[in-house]
Amino acid sequence: MSRLDSFIRRLEAQRAVLNWAAAMIRDRGGLVLELGLGNGRTYDHLRELLSGREIHVFDLEPKPNPFSMPPAQFLVVGDMAKTLPAFVEQHGAAAVLIHVDVTVGVPEQDAAAFVWLPAHVAALAMTGAIIVSGWALEHDKLEPLALPDEVPEGRYFAYRRAA
Ligand SMILES: C[S@@+](CC[C@H](N)C(=O)[O-])C[C@H]1O[C@@H](n2cnc3c(N)ncnc32)[C@H](O)[C@@H]1O
Repeated sequence: MSRLDSFIRRLEAQRAVLNWAAAMIRDRGGLVLELGLGNGRTYDHLRELLSGREIHVFDLEPKPNPFSMPPAQFLVVGDMAKTLPAFVEQHGAAAVLIHVDVTVGVPEQDAAAFVWLPAHVAALAMTGAIIVSGWALEHDKLEPLALPDEVPEGRYFAYRRAA
């Protein structure tokens, strides 16, 4: 498979996962969290899918496309190792949907580089919340969920926050 095909498939899988996750939580209350603003593509997709919802976005150095800059009050700037626990202190387990799209740029290294992240995600998520991630999250309160058939095995991961 060419790198172009692989890139297109990754984005198609990401879109399918976000569509699926948004439909799962559309009728439920709670915050939506985007971990990793980057260019703002997935944030833009989420805000279109979940228009009117509060979407809090986290990034170390936000430099998105100008059309995808979140309102200042919903943008949390800084290292998530610090900003996520601070957000938990302020809001508690208030998230109904969390999209984890943070990376060091080398997919094989993400789980090790962000070893602290699954515990913060579990603390932010309310019981029954849906968590979708570009890499596998290991935590005993995050129960793996099956993704739609069109998402190739291992390309994306989904979890439900256990009680
Ligand atoms: C792959 S990009 C996100 C792509 C984005 N979801 C999109 O669709 O355009 C990953 C982002 O994670 C951010 N990041 C990496 N390590 C971080 C950390 N420790 N704390 C906060 N943000 C971090 C980077 O600054 C980068 O913008």
